[in-house]
Formats: sequence, C-alpha cells, structure tokens
Amino acid sequence: MADLYQQRREQLMAAIPTATAVFASAPLAVMHNDVDHIFRQDSSFYYVTGFNEPESVAVLAPHHEEHRFILFVRPKDKDREIWSGRRVGVEAAKELYGADEVYPIGELDEHLPKYLTQADRLYYHLGSNRHLDTKILHHWQQLLATYYKRGTGPVAIEDSNLLLQTLRRQKSAEELELMRQAIAISAKAHNHARAIAQPGRYEYEIQAEMEHIFRLEGAMGTAYPSIVASGDNACILHYIENNRQMQSGDLLLIDAGCCYEYYNADITRTFPVGGQFTAEQRILYELVLEAQLKAIAAVQPGAPFNEFHDAATRTITEGLVELGLLAGDVDTLIEEKKHKAFFMHGTGHFLGLDVHDAGILRNPDKSWKPFEVGNVVTVEPGIYVTPNYEPEEGQPQIDDRWRGIGIRIEDDVLVTATGPEVLTDAVPKTLAAMES
Ligand code: GLY
Ligand code: MN
Ligand code: MN
Repeated sequence: MADLYQQRREQLMAAIPTATAVFASAPLAVMHNDVDHIFRQDSSFYYVTGFNEPESVAVLAPHHEEHRFILFVRPKDKDREIWSGRRVGVEAAKELYGADEVYPIGELDEHLPKYLTQADRLYYHLGSNRHLDTKILHHWQQLLATYYKRGTGPVAIEDSNLLLQTLRRQKSAEELELMRQAIAISAKAHNHARAIAQPGRYEYEIQAEMEHIFRLEGAMGTAYPSIVASGDNACILHYIENNRQMQSGDLLLIDAGCCYEYYNADITRTFPVGGQFTAEQRILYELVLEAQLKAIAAVQPGAPFNEFHDAATRTITEGLVELGLLAGDVDTLIEEKKHKAFFMHGTGHFLGLDVHDAGILRNPDKSWKPFEVGNVVTVEPGIYVTPNYEPEEGQPQIDDRWRGIGIRIEDDVLVTATGPEVLTDAVPKTLAAMES
C-alpha cells in the first residue's frame, strides 16, 4: 500500500515541479466537554500520505534537492499515548510512510520555510484549520517581504484540494477494490433490513441491525448518518432521527452505507413495510425506477455530466404530468424547474474517499465535463410528495392519496469503457423484489 501513496505523490509532484504543496491532517473535533468525536482523517491528506493521525502536516517539495516528501507528526509520548492512543512517531513514520524527512509537529515553524523558499507557488487549502492557516500565512508573508533579496519564493497560494480533483475523481484498481468491499457490506445490511422490517418495529431497530453488520464485517462505521425513514419521514431528505414506529401501509426509505478503509458506499432502497405497495406507491415507485434506469444508461464514458440528471428529470416530469401531479408542457416545466416540487435534488455525485467526492463538474465555459472511465457516481433520483404539498400557481391541486409518499432509489455506478457497471446490484430493486 505504501507504494500506492508514493505513486500518487509522484503524479502530483509531476504536475507541480516548481511548487510546494502543504496538506494538513483533519483536526480533532470536540464532541462535548473533554470528549472528542471519533477521529476521521482529512481525505486529501489521507490520499497523499495514508497516514491517519491528527496534528500532522505533509509537505511535497518536488524541486527540493534533498527532501521531496516531508512529514510533521506527533512525537512518541508514553504518557499521552496511555490516554489517547498509539502514535507512529517520528522514527517509524519515515520508514512506514516513505517520507524523506520527518520532524515533530512542534518544529513546523523551524523547518517549513526551507521547503518554501525555492518554490514559485504554494499549494495549500485555506479555511479548514485556522491555527495552521495563520502559521502558513505568516511564513508566506515573511518570504514575500524578503523576496527582493532572493528573487525566489511563492508568489501566490493556490488551493491544494483543487489540485487533487482530477486525480481523486479517477479511481485506481486498488481504490475500486476497497469500494467494492464497502458496497458488499452495505448490500448485506440492506438485504437484511428488507428481511426484518415489519409493522410495529421502530426505524432505529433497522438502523441498529444495519450498523451492526457494518462493524461486524470490518467497516470503520457509517459513511454518513443512516437515514431510515418510514411513512411521511421519507419526504425529509436528510431525516436521521429514526425513531418512529413503522405502520402497515408505510413505505420505508433506507439511505445507508458503510465506510471501509476510508472508502464509502451510498445506497438507497425504498420498499413497503407490510410487503405490498398501495396503488399510488406502486405507480410512483415504477416511475422512479424507470427514471433511475434511464439515468444509469446515460452514465457513459464521454457523456457530459448533466445528461444523466436530464434523463431522470425528463422521465419523472413526463410521468408526473401523465399522473396529473404536474400540468403543462414538459420542456417548459423542466425549464422552469417545476419538477423540483417533487424531485428537488440532483441525480448523483461522485463517490470515493468522501461521500460527495472530489471532481469538478463544469468547464470554465459552463459546459459540463464528461464522465471518464474509472469514475464512480451515485444515481439516485426520487419523488417526494410532502404531506402538506401545496401546488405553485398554475399547477393542479393533488389528491390526498399521493401525499406522504417519498421514494428514492440509489445505486453506485462505475464508468467503464463499455458503459455503466452497477456496483450495487447485489441489492435488488425490481418491483417484485421489493414486495417479496
Ligand atoms: N446519503 C447521502 C447522499 O445520498 O448523497
Ligand atoms: Mn445516499
Ligand atoms: Mn448519494
């Protein structure tokens, strides 16, 4: 695995041969008095180092004569390690993480400037770590003030996260292996959830059993807070209270996935708790499924990123007009975004180290960037008829039987040379499977 990170650093350094890039670890986040949240490494920092401790800084200085990859880490400390866990330490970090030089983090101010003076640009992400931002700006200003004496030094700071967008968007074979593992575990949890959900059980019971499987199968935990939304709750896109008792006649929308070795799965299924769709639920389910299949078919190498969303939007809007939930010319409805009354989110996002992963969607001329082989994207259209739905002016009143129905179907899709590969197909989604 160390080779993998080295490969990434080499790729990155080849793109910025005369600059220096500085990446910061994630900070420890306070949960409440004297208790921290579980530490989760910053994805960009992890992508270039594989190092998962807080209070660390990685420097890439491709032009430096002696050291091209430098780490600043927490030193070994017997007492602190008894309280807050093992540290790799300065010595072992060099060996284990392939750094040319490693310093204790307390010596950052002393050693950082020598990796900046000869660089013509500094890549750094401002805004996530105020303490480090202040230090970096201080060093940069010092170098600017003395630039006239040397004629060298970074003349600008550019964003280091932007630098990684193209690389991170393209998943390697090793990354795909981890994503497939995250997906396999999540699929198992979804299939279990469908088997145990029934009227009388609480949403949190389903959540608990799914998350039990995540950890039992070796995942780090959830990729994002699990959404287990029955009945009306399915119309709240990020419902996470998960405390309602399910009733016969409810749909249950589950949007849950695990994180395995830092890579995420993101899956949604919606099915009837009592085993049978009502007529209205069935109609809307079939419509969402049709939209999702059309959107998946549009995930082709070379296809602009907007096309899969356009495919889903058109199918859903046409369907809603046919059902009398929207009225008007389909093109005009889409142009005026009237579909957003029922389908208010995008159709998908890149997936990887972050659930909403790196990847620039548009070119400066506003055209959409195309999908490329190796991209992983979610495809997740939905229809949500909120219980208190009120039509916009010019749109029809709706019958009460549609109210409170929320449906989303979400798969994770790999772009291959021959078209879309649905990585999440171990979780069924046909109408018949949802009723069995
Ligand atoms: N579960 C988060 C999302 O679907 O984007
Ligand atoms: Mn999701
Ligand atoms: Mn998603």
